[in-house]
Amino acid sequence: MMKLFLWILALVEMVSLAYTNEGGSELEATRDYFTGPSFDISLPTISTVAAGQTAYLQCKVRLQGDRKVSWIRQRDLHILTVGTLTYTNDARFSAVHVPGTDTWTLRLKPVQVRDAGTYECQVSSEPKISRSVLLNVVVAKAKIGPPELFIKVGSDINLTCLAPQSSEPPSFITWHHAGQVLNFVNRPRLHIDRRTVDVSRLIIKNANPNDSGNYTCSPDGVEPASVFVHVLSGEHPAAMQHGSATPSASSLIVIISILMILVTSL
Ligand SMILES: *[C@@H]1O[C@H](CO)[C@@H](O)[C@H](O)[C@H]1NC(C)=O
Ligand SMILES: *[C@@H]1O[C@H](CO)[C@@H](O)[C@H](O)[C@H]1NC(C)=O
Ligand SMILES: *[C@@H]1O[C@H](CO)[C@@H](O)[C@H](O)[C@H]1NC(C)=O
Repeated sequence: MMKLFLWILALVEMVSLAYTNEGGSELEATRDYFTGPSFDISLPTISTVAAGQTAYLQCKVRLQGDRKVSWIRQRDLHILTVGTLTYTNDARFSAVHVPGTDTWTLRLKPVQVRDAGTYECQVSSEPKISRSVLLNVVVAKAKIGPPELFIKVGSDINLTCLAPQSSEPPSFITWHHAGQVLNFVNRPRLHIDRRTVDVSRLIIKNANPNDSGNYTCSPDGVEPASVFVHVLSGEHPAAMQHGSATPSASSLIVIISILMILVTSL
């Protein structure tokens, strides 16, 4: 009992000494601990990137001093970068840092689906501090419209391909038919028009049954979209449509259907 009392007394003495003695080493250590490096917590901790594009995971360190900032993949604890050096054989990873600034960015190009997961920005302070950033990878897909299209012989095939909106628009949008790249050279009735950075339109005038088949649109870096076109020689009243397919028209139909369901359920 007496021992415990003496121990508490000693502890109280130590604490009061630390607070009264300005140059006390305990106080110095406390101050250093609280003013050590810290993260700018206003930066996002989730980053969503489409497969094929570039991910930039950011980490901003205040009062970094001479400590190193590393990026570590949590899945396998692989050290990817330390400072501006890359420590992985995977050439898609690199560290981006402008000297004199406090932001350390992990750049990953191109992102693959298997890269999804948590990445940790770590500062080699004592104790170590770290901040996690979650990388979400979405698969961007092009859109044409309905999966099948029925048109009459002699009318036009008119397909509109929409690449998903992104910060990096596709540099090219390719069309394939029956396993072959479509180009103007060998087909006089064919017209391909890049309407905007993310929209391409394919028109085949005066369609004949040989134009039937699978049409695929592939913007680079994006999953392709396909439509199967049936050019019907005889009369097929069922499922006959005008020779055009646009994603906006089909989404309008979905919206109208939802509205009708809502109205009838009232
Ligand atoms: C193709 O379809 C689009 C949208 O439906 C339309 O604006 C365009 O005029 C059509 N082009 C031809 C040549 O039919
Ligand atoms: C369709 O293809 C066949 C064989 O390739 C050819 O003999 C025929 O002339 C083509 N028809 C038209 C309308 O182009
Ligand atoms: C059309 O072609 C694409 C790409 O080659 C393929 O994934 C898809 O299954 C095909 N669709 C049909 C209906 O054959």
